[in-house]
Amino acid sequence: MKMAPTVLEPLQQPETVRVPEVEKGVGCNFDSYLLVPDHTLDERIAAAKQALGERVVLLGHHYQRDEVVKFADFQGDSLKLSQQAAAQSGAEFIVFCGVHFMAESADILRQPHQQVILPDLNAGCSMADMADIEQVEDCWEQLEEVGPLNVIPITYMNSTAAIKAFTGRKGGAVCTSSNASALFGWALARGERILFLPDEHLGRNTAYRMGIGLEEMVVWDPRRDLGGLTPEQLRQARVILWKGYCSVHQRFLPEHVERIRRQHPGIRVIVHPECRWEVCQQADELGSTEKIRQAVVASPPGSQWAVGTEIHLVNRLAREHPEKFIVSLDPNVCVCTTMFRIAPQHLCWVLENLTAGRVVNRIQVDAETRTWACVALDRMLSLS
Ligand code: 13P
Ligand code: SF4
Repeated sequence: MKMAPTVLEPLQQPETVRVPEVEKGVGCNFDSYLLVPDHTLDERIAAAKQALGERVVLLGHHYQRDEVVKFADFQGDSLKLSQQAAAQSGAEFIVFCGVHFMAESADILRQPHQQVILPDLNAGCSMADMADIEQVEDCWEQLEEVGPLNVIPITYMNSTAAIKAFTGRKGGAVCTSSNASALFGWALARGERILFLPDEHLGRNTAYRMGIGLEEMVVWDPRRDLGGLTPEQLRQARVILWKGYCSVHQRFLPEHVERIRRQHPGIRVIVHPECRWEVCQQADELGSTEKIRQAVVASPPGSQWAVGTEIHLVNRLAREHPEKFIVSLDPNVCVCTTMFRIAPQHLCWVLENLTAGRVVNRIQVDAETRTWACVALDRMLSLS
């Protein structure tokens, strides 16, 4: 998954479009793009995109930099972008300005004639890296040894394709932060317990808001035998939470909420459900990145917001809405460094290569994994 950018394969179709400014052969060498300053790439990106026309669709997550996301045909949270990936059957190429698990999900949902491209293959997600398939299979075996627990696995979108396929095979599903409670309800109608991975916080916040008490949840530590739990604890639990977290959202603390309320009486606090339970308890609203955006946009002029999520989204909202007071809940900048990896240089490089008939940085999930991951994703999409 973490490889240096490589040219994967030539296009099958004869080349039909060219960007006049790009000399033949220039586009394949990424290093030469590193020397070009960000602002000078705008015209080249726009020209390449225009030359490709409807052959390409650009999807951009809300955490992307402005200089990248401004070229997106669709901007959104993980759910909206996965729905767009499934809906864009006309485009030959889906360029995903986001992180690896998002591009993988697009590859699972794409049509056979489409190819998915991630502009920088190093754009991963540290939370998704906190669960690997061997650990999850090992966990499942250990749960089975405890006896008939009737567990339904639900994996957050922020997980590998292999884990999504695992949940599909085991009668489970995928969820995002927009539809986690719908998927939890779905799972509890089918089984007695949920194994939720890899984000402990999203799992706890979702279950708690559905009326499941903290005492009915346990945390599975994949580094310890039986997750560090006893068989009795597992039998009493309704939700088994994988010990994983987002390093960006875990930085927000209850003290930040107290401080911002002291400094700005009446301010509304809205946070992403990847934040700690204690922070979510003190917030006025929780929501996915799309829900955060919608809530802030829909609020009247003069509204005050403290937002607990990645800084690029917060800054963009503040810039687009000068009539409102919008700040980050944490005064120290919270950047998702892997989202930040997608630079205009990468975007220009992949698009100019496409115009030259080369597909670079293709994300391709193997057929067996795709089949089962698709089952898990389809279960989610049918409930969204
Ligand atoms: P959203 O689905 O809310 O966009 O969240 C994705 C993510 O990675 C948040 O950290
Ligand atoms: Fe992953 Fe956190 Fe970045 Fe979201 S903000 S992509 S969960 S590391």
